[in-house]
Amino acid sequence: MEQKAYTDSFASIYDDVMGAVPYQLWFNYLHELMDYYQLKPVKILELACGTGNMSFLFQKKGYQIEGIDGSEEMLKIARKKAKTSGIKIKFHFSDLRRFELAAQYDFIFSLFDSLNYILQLDELKQVFKNVYNVLVPDGFFIFDMNTVKRLMSITPGTSMLNGENYTCFWEDIINKEEERWQVRLKIYLDNENDYYEEFHEETAYPRKDIINALRQVGFQHIDCFNAYTFEQGSDHDNRLYYIAFKKATSARKKGRVVKTLKKIKWRFLHLFMSC
Ligand SMILES: C[S@@+](CC[C@H](N)C(=O)[O-])C[C@H]1O[C@@H](n2cnc3c(N)ncnc32)[C@H](O)[C@@H]1O
Repeated sequence: MEQKAYTDSFASIYDDVMGAVPYQLWFNYLHELMDYYQLKPVKILELACGTGNMSFLFQKKGYQIEGIDGSEEMLKIARKKAKTSGIKIKFHFSDLRRFELAAQYDFIFSLFDSLNYILQLDELKQVFKNVYNVLVPDGFFIFDMNTVKRLMSITPGTSMLNGENYTCFWEDIINKEEERWQVRLKIYLDNENDYYEEFHEETAYPRKDIINALRQVGFQHIDCFNAYTFEQGSDHDNRLYYIAFKKATSARKKGRVVKTLKKIKWRFLHLFMSC
C-alpha cells in the first residue's frame, strides 16, 4: 500500500463525508435479521467500528457494545464523540487479522464493506477464526461485503467533495487484473497549506469462497442475503449480508409467513433505496 488509509485527516472529515450513509436503516435491517432468527444478544462487538456510528445506535437501544478498529485516528473520533455524549463504550485498537480479546460476545458484526479491506482470502479466514474464538458457543456473526460484480462496475474518475472546512478529491481506480477497487484521496484542510493523501483498497471474493472459509473455521450454519432483502444472495448482487452461527441449532428461523412479510417489506425498501 502506498499510503495508509484512515489517518488523521480523513478520520477528521469521515462523518461529514459519510453524512448520507443510512446507518439507521442498517441498524433496522440487522434487527429484522435478529428477529427472523429469534436472536436476543446482550453483549455485542462491532468489528471495524470506525468512528463508532453503528456502535452508538446499539448503545442507545440498551445493548452492551464494544468496538474494535485498526485505525487509532478513527477510534480517537469515536472516543471523543462518546465523551461528548457522556456514553461509555470500550473501543479497542487492533488489526482484525490479529485481534484477541479476553471477553466473549453473543453477537459480532461488521458493516460498510470493512471486510473488503482484507485483501487476501487466507487473511479473511484468519479474521473469521478470531471472531469465532471470541463468540459465545451459541453466538452469531453478521457482516456485509461488496461483491466482485459491484467493485468491478464502479466507474473510474475523480470527484470533488466540499465540506465546511475541507476539500477532498476522491479518485476511483479499478484494478481489473487484481479485481480491486482503489481510492486515492487528496485532502485539503482549511487553514493548512499542505494536503494529505490516502490510498484505500478493497477486494471481493466469490460467495462460495466466503462460505467455505467460514465453514473451515468452524461456523456450522451460514446464510447469505442480498443486502437489505430477505432474498438469497448471489454473486450477481452488489452487496451481500452473511449470517454465520457457531452452532447450527442457534439458527431458529421464524416461519414462512414471517419470511414472506419481511421479503415484501424489504423488497419495497430496497426498491425505494435504489431510486
Ligand atoms: C469504510 S470504514 C467503515 C467504518 C464503520 N464500520 C462505519 O460503518 O462507518 C472501514 C473501517 O475498517 C477499518 N479497517 C480496515 N482494515 C482493517 C483491519 N485490517 N483491521 C482493523 N480495522 C480495519 C478502517 O480503519 C475503517 O475504520
